[in-house]
Amino acid sequence: MESAPAGSTRLETAANDAGGGKFVRLEAVCKSYDEHGSRRDVLRDLDFSIGRGQFVALLGRSGAGKSTLLNLLGGLDVPTSGSVSVGGTRIDGLSEDERTLFRRQNLGFVFQAYNLIPTLNVLDNLLLPLELAGRSGPKGRSAAQKSGHGRSARERAEWLLEEVGLADRGQSWPDRLSGGEQQRVAIARALAAEPLLLLADEPTGNLDYRTGRTVMDLLHRLVRDTRTTMLVVTHDRDFLQASDRIVRLHEGRIEQITLDEATAR
Ligand SMILES: Nc1ncnc2c1ncn2[C@@H]1O[C@H](COP(=O)(O)OP(=O)(O)O)[C@@H](O)[C@H]1O
Ligand SMILES: [Mg+2]
Repeated sequence: MESAPAGSTRLETAANDAGGGKFVRLEAVCKSYDEHGSRRDVLRDLDFSIGRGQFVALLGRSGAGKSTLLNLLGGLDVPTSGSVSVGGTRIDGLSEDERTLFRRQNLGFVFQAYNLIPTLNVLDNLLLPLELAGRSGPKGRSAAQKSGHGRSARERAEWLLEEVGLADRGQSWPDRLSGGEQQRVAIARALAAEPLLLLADEPTGNLDYRTGRTVMDLLHRLVRDTRTTMLVVTHDRDFLQASDRIVRLHEGRIEQITLDEATAR
């Protein structure tokens, strides 16, 4: 798995706009879990799509299936039935190894638990996804400098650390950081390999207000500057306000809601 060839599944620009303007497309998706012999239907005939470069906020009660949905989009799990496409690629049709490679080269994931690698310092945690995506070498420095693209891996990793306010913590071990600091490293790591689709599960949930705004501004700027598509599980009012669209997972399906509806609880 670790030796999978790099460079073969990174989506090209043409593919980014494939799928009739729907960068992300889920069709008739069902996801059930078997538990102690009884079946739990979490996603039930769910249809959902996101246009390229859109910033979508995802709401829903605890247990509604938000993390399940993110896992399907991130290729960490497969649906019981239905199809999941990203950039025109059916990720549910890929083998596990292909899904892993596809994820490394195209997706960024901010988990609810930070999942930093404890034996790597902060900077190396950021460099790892670049290596895994096969993009650790220096690049041309012409394009989109302000969003950190077109820099060498190390420059980009350092730039991201600076963006999340941790420029001086590159050599620290993750367990020496506070929860909020680890979350910021996790966010920087998710952005390291210039993902086309960023999936985030409550990315500001553990951050104080001011740090939360910094992270949100970073994500928002990224969408604008690089057309990164984002699906973010969040109940953060500012996040909801900044999003292009708010959806709610309810009884196994996606429904579109307004900002007023989203904040009226
Ligand atoms: N691997 C699993 N095995 C069995 N049940 C699971 C598994 N993952 C999630 N579930 C169940 O699916 C439902 C949705 O979970 P989840 O997607 O984590 O919800 P949310 O993120 O919205 O809180 C929950 O009832 C949860 O217990
Ligand atoms: Mg969850």
